[in-house]
Amino acid sequence: MTQPNSHIAPNETAAQHAAFEARIERGEKIEAGDWMPAEYRRQLIRMISQHAHSEVVGMLPEGEWIASAPTLKRKTILMAKVQDEAGHGQYLYHAAETLGATREGMIDALLTRRAKYSSIFNYPTTSWADVGMIGWLVDGAAIKNQTMLAGASYGPYSRAMVRICSEETFHHKQGKEMIVAYAVGTPAQREMAQDALNRWWWPALMMLGPHDADSPNTGIMSKWGVKLKTNDEVRQEFINEHAPELLEAGLTIPDPDLHQDEQGNWKHGPIDWTEFWAVIKGERGLGAERLATRQAAHDDGAWVREALQAYTDRQRAVAAD
Ligand code: ACO
Repeated sequence: MTQPNSHIAPNETAAQHAAFEARIERGEKIEAGDWMPAEYRRQLIRMISQHAHSEVVGMLPEGEWIASAPTLKRKTILMAKVQDEAGHGQYLYHAAETLGATREGMIDALLTRRAKYSSIFNYPTTSWADVGMIGWLVDGAAIKNQTMLAGASYGPYSRAMVRICSEETFHHKQGKEMIVAYAVGTPAQREMAQDALNRWWWPALMMLGPHDADSPNTGIMSKWGVKLKTNDEVRQEFINEHAPELLEAGLTIPDPDLHQDEQGNWKHGPIDWTEFWAVIKGERGLGAERLATRQAAHDDGAWVREALQAYTDRQRAVAAD
């Protein structure tokens, strides 16, 4: 017996869904004005807006270190990187707006905790090496995920990903360059790099999402060509690339169970998912501080939004005359 398609909304037909899925099957991009299932639209708004929030909140852990960067070169690189993240947030909010989401609604959902942002940004940056480790591991994980999303079926998201990935690649390289330099540097630098790896390794694995068996959204997102790989597949790719590079740099990965299997895949030990969910809910880590900082920035920016609105209203009035 065929299972009823639970994603068909009352005002949608099976034929509409079949035609939509055939387009995805042919590799066509779905564009903003095209017909799409309500659930496809809802899922994309959920994911893209949470991605946008992650880029913007993601400016905070590293932004704290701009004033303390050890050299002018490192400072200018970090400033450019943090500015890039702001730009990524803008591309992504725009991509979500093409689906009918409003900027006000998305920001409100973030500030009232109805929308999530990446768990990784609720961890503190306690040393300068964290800036390098975020570039190498966090941006490395983000690239693995987002290179996959560059092939997503929704055109505006896929194109935003292409642009974002090229900038993230620079972020990744500068992080790796910094940590490799410290790993072969003075004993104090080596210790700082190792300490950063000890704190960021597990959160970087977790940021790629729960195991596939515990991922409620992967099924439909894969069927509709948004996620072309599962959370565990992307995590495996990430470990396969980064584990040998970290070891080659002379660092110790804080996982006694890490080993390579016969296929050459690096297998990790058990992940502490209790920590993951507690960090997302703000019960552990800096969730409350991050949101308070975003709220303050939003309040401080009220006059800019009001001025832009007044300017737009005046331009419209002039045009109407
Ligand atoms: N942090 C916070 N929430 C997470 C995380 C995470 N690291 N991973 C999963 N979740 C949430 C999901 O958003 C989902 O919650 P929701 O249904 O309330 O939205 C829930 O946990 C269950 O997870 P999944 O069913 O696996 O969710 P999904 O299929 O959306 O996969 C993933 C999660 C891989 C993060 C996906 O949303 C994605 O690829 N997003 C776009 C990329 C992105 O946001 N990256 C963040 C980092 S950006 C950066 O580093 C600058």
